[in-house]
Amino acid sequence: KDKIKKCKPSGIILELIQGNGGTHQLDFEFVKGVRKLCDIYNITMIVDEIQTGFGRCGELFLCDLYGLIPDVIVFGKAIGNGFPLFGTISKPRYKFEVDDHSFTFTHFPVSMAAGLAYLRQVNKKLLNSVMKKAGYIVDRLTNLRNDYFCLGEIRGMGLFLGVDIIDKSGNPDIKLAEIIEKKMLKEKIIIGLSKCKGFGYNIKFKPMLNITYSQINYALDKFEKVLTELKCTRR
Ligand SMILES: Cc1ncc(COP(=O)(O)O)c(C=O)c1O
Repeated sequence: KDKIKKCKPSGIILELIQGNGGTHQLDFEFVKGVRKLCDIYNITMIVDEIQTGFGRCGELFLCDLYGLIPDVIVFGKAIGNGFPLFGTISKPRYKFEVDDHSFTFTHFPVSMAAGLAYLRQVNKKLLNSVMKKAGYIVDRLTNLRNDYFCLGEIRGMGLFLGVDIIDKSGNPDIKLAEIIEKKMLKEKIIIGLSKCKGFGYNIKFKPMLNITYSQINYALDKFEKVLTELKCTRR
């Protein structure tokens, strides 16, 4: 509160799960508290749903799972499903005009068509399946953790998951994570590492939402194979 009074911020931008920051998720109560402070001190609360939105976390927006109504939501990436597309949703008092957004691919009609097509697919059935598949992946990763010392904390929500790669002492191991990434690529599976400085030990599991169970098993079998080859077993 003291800092707010001193700095008088006009807005705050939050990522509820930090995609490039190690799949770290903000605590529900913390976010509630931020919302309260924003209301009291008239601070615009902007939530970045660029990575979390459009079903990735099992609801249309992750805000929905938090019971949170921000002042502005910024979204992108998922809505275009690979095509360049982004947008904002805001309370009526924030007036954005059409040309306030301008970038190279603005108003690209194929992206608009892709966005509409994607929205037609995001229904309750898909969202439920996201949560079920997420549970399945977390169970498999948890089992793998019993056998492989290099797997640490598993974090995330829905198909926005990450697992820490650790050394035998339990410390983050960026080097090992990078080796795993390269070996997985040789197995023709792309896994992402958190790219923010210092968080490169977090391997991200963010498959397409309509991934099948056999594809999940295929990828996790390869993951297990790579961990075995790297002699990461506990024995
Ligand atoms: C969560 C999040 N917010 C914002 C951005 C920035 O998007 P852009 O590069 O289109 O400005 C990214 C891009 O990676 C992102 O992942």
